[in-house]
Amino acid sequence: VQEQIDYKAKIKNLLIEKDAVLVAHYYTDPEIQALAEETGGYVADSLEMARFGRDHKAKTLIIAGVRFMGETAKILTPHKTVLMPELEATCSLDVGCPVDEFSAFCDQHPDRVVVVYANTSAAVKARADWVVTSSIALEIVEHLDSEGKKIIWGPDRHLGSYIERKTKADMIMWQGDCIVHDEFKASALRDMKAVHPDAAVLVHPESPESVVQLADAVGSTSQLIKAAQTLPNKKLIVATDTGIFYKMQQACPDKEMMAAPTAGNGATCRSCAHCPWMAMNGLKSIYNALVDASGHEIDVDPNVAKGALVSLDRMLDFAA
Ligand code: 13P
Ligand code: SF4
Repeated sequence: VQEQIDYKAKIKNLLIEKDAVLVAHYYTDPEIQALAEETGGYVADSLEMARFGRDHKAKTLIIAGVRFMGETAKILTPHKTVLMPELEATCSLDVGCPVDEFSAFCDQHPDRVVVVYANTSAAVKARADWVVTSSIALEIVEHLDSEGKKIIWGPDRHLGSYIERKTKADMIMWQGDCIVHDEFKASALRDMKAVHPDAAVLVHPESPESVVQLADAVGSTSQLIKAAQTLPNKKLIVATDTGIFYKMQQACPDKEMMAAPTAGNGATCRSCAHCPWMAMNGLKSIYNALVDASGHEIDVDPNVAKGALVSLDRMLDFAA
């Protein structure tokens, strides 16, 4: 504990000294989210992280999250130094969607608009026409569908099929998944609901369809926090990364939150409701990044960044 208190104090001084701001995702450890709040930084979903970093006046952004979030920050603000506690912190959706294979898939369907989830590499974003996050994916696909566009969707198959069911848009999908959300189990969730019949079920749409069908509210991280506040239930069963409990509990202090089950019959799961890459972010690695940027700085090839900026800006303009 003593060590952590020291890191916090040191980070606070370094943020001022280096004209840096800490931007954290809801899935990072509570101590990191608390530090971002205490130091004038921000805790948010991936869309809001991108907007906050772009609009903040600090010269240096320290992005506590996963690599695609750091890359997005760099693409939006190439003149800023963008640091990450751990450059190795990636995402199974990004890893499972290599640009060459994805590009070949797109080439087979030249008549379709390419819409990719923000959880992708800069190169995949550059290949796409649109980037979306889970906060705004439905609206953007609805908009494209209303213009009669047919869509290639990548990489998350569960989010893609959720949007397809909601919008009835013509979509073909890349078959990626999130190792956290893909693990939620409908049968075990049904059992849990039977034990807590008064609980509302909140589900991130990266979860399998069978889990989404049991939800009282489906949405991105920020939308789930809003739903937690709005729904009258005092008990909530939450099918997303448990890192979200920190802000959700702040938003509704009088409610009880339970993690949705990740495995039926005691089987092992790949992630047990906490993203292993988000968990790589720690106070020590934030401190290290601020002391010495080498090995922590995000760099995106300027040509790739130029292409990715077009599809990212489409989303941000749409969201504005
Ligand atoms: P949000 O866009 O809802 O923040 O989700 C990002 C993510 O990685 C979900 O697993
Ligand atoms: Fe990627 Fe899933 Fe981790 Fe989000 S929770 S960063 S989608 S692996």
